[in-house]
Amino acid sequence: MRKLARLFQNNKDWSAKMKRTQPDFFEKLSAQQTPEYMWIGCADSRVPANEIVGLMPGEIFVHRNIANVVVHTDLNCLSVIQYAVELLKVKHIIVCGHYGCGGIRAAMENNEHGLIDNWLRHLKDVYRYHQQELDSIKDEKLKEDRFCELNVLEQVNNVCHTTIVQNAWKAGQDLSVHGWLYSIEGGDLTDLDICISGKDEISKTHRLV
Ligand code: CO
Repeated sequence: MRKLARLFQNNKDWSAKMKRTQPDFFEKLSAQQTPEYMWIGCADSRVPANEIVGLMPGEIFVHRNIANVVVHTDLNCLSVIQYAVELLKVKHIIVCGHYGCGGIRAAMENNEHGLIDNWLRHLKDVYRYHQQELDSIKDEKLKEDRFCELNVLEQVNNVCHTTIVQNAWKAGQDLSVHGWLYSIEGGDLTDLDICISGKDEISKTHRLV
């Protein structure tokens, strides 16, 4: 099938509806974007950033990958963070994981999955940092859920450890990094009560002068 007709029809309907309800919507949006939020989430098709938090196009800057990982040398993710922080001046970066994450599940196994194992390796590192706690959870579902949470915690730390975020704080920019979890089963968001807003709140090892 060369043409995905259903998607184009959907787009036509959607843009017509938007123009009907807010005639200047696209005109305003094409002039500039001023999102206050950046979202780092899982690529999972069941976790669409805008819909979950009820935001319109232009309101949230989004980066997604498998299991919402922030790798120190991932130029893709780092470039998105840099653009969001330095140019768009977002006030909040949200790392949002989700329960039942296939990436997390795969990282708990020892089967080979091909190229993706190199990505999952970062998740295995997270497991290793918290091995004692995770190994002590006997119920597999609870263990997996806790791994999802600890992964968000570590990725929040990774965002904060970037030179981008630390330089923004140094310059006095108002910027907070949050950790959330989404439940696909119920559609609910949970705030993990992780909110980092300055360099005093990060580990000394990573803190830059
Ligand atoms: Co996932």
